Amino acid sequence: MDLSTTYLGLKLEHPVVHSSSPLSQSLDNIRKLEDGGASAIVMYSLFEEQITHESNQLDHYLSYGAESFAEATSYYPEMQSYHVGPDEYLNRIRRAKEAVKIPIIGSLNGVSTGGWIEYAKKIEDAGADALELNVYFLPTDPNMSGPEVEQMYVDIVTDVKKSVKLPLAVKISPFFSAIGHMVQRLAGAGADALVMFNRFYQPDFDLEELEVVPNLVLSTPYELRLPLRWVAILYGRVEADFAITRGVHSAEDVLKGVMAGANVTMMTSALLQKGIDRIGVVVRDMEMWMEQHEYESVAQMRGSMSQKNVAEPAAFERANYMRVLNSWRPDPTGKLHF
Ligand SMILES: Cc1cc2nc3c(=O)[nH]c(=O)nc-3n(C[C@H](O)[C@H](O)[C@H](O)COP(=O)(O)O)c2cc1C
Repeated sequence: MDLSTTYLGLKLEHPVVHSSSPLSQSLDNIRKLEDGGASAIVMYSLFEEQITHESNQLDHYLSYGAESFAEATSYYPEMQSYHVGPDEYLNRIRRAKEAVKIPIIGSLNGVSTGGWIEYAKKIEDAGADALELNVYFLPTDPNMSGPEVEQMYVDIVTDVKKSVKLPLAVKISPFFSAIGHMVQRLAGAGADALVMFNRFYQPDFDLEELEVVPNLVLSTPYELRLPLRWVAILYGRVEADFAITRGVHSAEDVLKGVMAGANVTMMTSALLQKGIDRIGVVVRDMEMWMEQHEYESVAQMRGSMSQKNVAEPAAFERANYMRVLNSWRPDPTGKLHF
């Protein structure tokens, strides 16, 4: 059984990768991720704000709210110190590279072009095998148009690509009016892979205190459907690798992702909920499923359920929307379900 895959020019043992999360913050967990079976590790992000305002204490949890998330913090108390300065970040990449054999992918998180991008090169010099650029941008200014937002993404990717030789993955949100076109432009600007999709953490309201509060909710497998659909649609149409991040919790999710056309699938929420060893379980289950269904390799499965390879390509399109709405029937017992 050949579970191997390629991603960003790297040969990986199988398609289950640890996505950027606080688990990569300690060397101990990095070793556990390798022992637990991850085929590569994306490091937690170094933020533009940390680089440009190093002296300011950036509250990383404004974005990710990990402190308010008891389930994860009880598993991983070291999450409290998620945020470190840029030099320490580079040190941790160096130490991670020394500690494990699997590829280490550095992660930069920012929204503008400028001096901070030199850290891409520093991450390369620290020994990372590849770089993931997470553009987590919320276009809140009503005067900013869609084309301006898109150009901003293209400019950052162009600049980062110019400054490194490393293979570059770009992690994006699904909120573009023409996601296919955007992905194509990013690939043209130098993205060797697209990581789909960023989860934007939505703040909640505290009605008693009348405050807006950060609120991190981990993903459920249902969330896989969005990246699954888009990777299936774009597979074979855009010259780039695809990584699915969002809602990958089980072997079935990994198999679906690969069949859609992903080179790798990534896990965070499931590992925060169930522990690092979850990766090993998923890989074993995946192997068992492939044996039972007489597949020989991951390569053989890749893209087999993509839009260009399925018998009914319209299943991914508007026609399917009408069919789904029409499929609803009232339950004779009075319960509501499809
Ligand atoms: C506590 C926490 C911290 C995260 N930190 C980062 C980060 O620093 N950089 C990043 O690109 N993504 C970060 N993510 C997003 C994950 O990498 C991943 O894309 C997201 O959780 C969706 O995958 P999942 O459904 O497997 O959780 C974080 C997620 C969580 C839950």
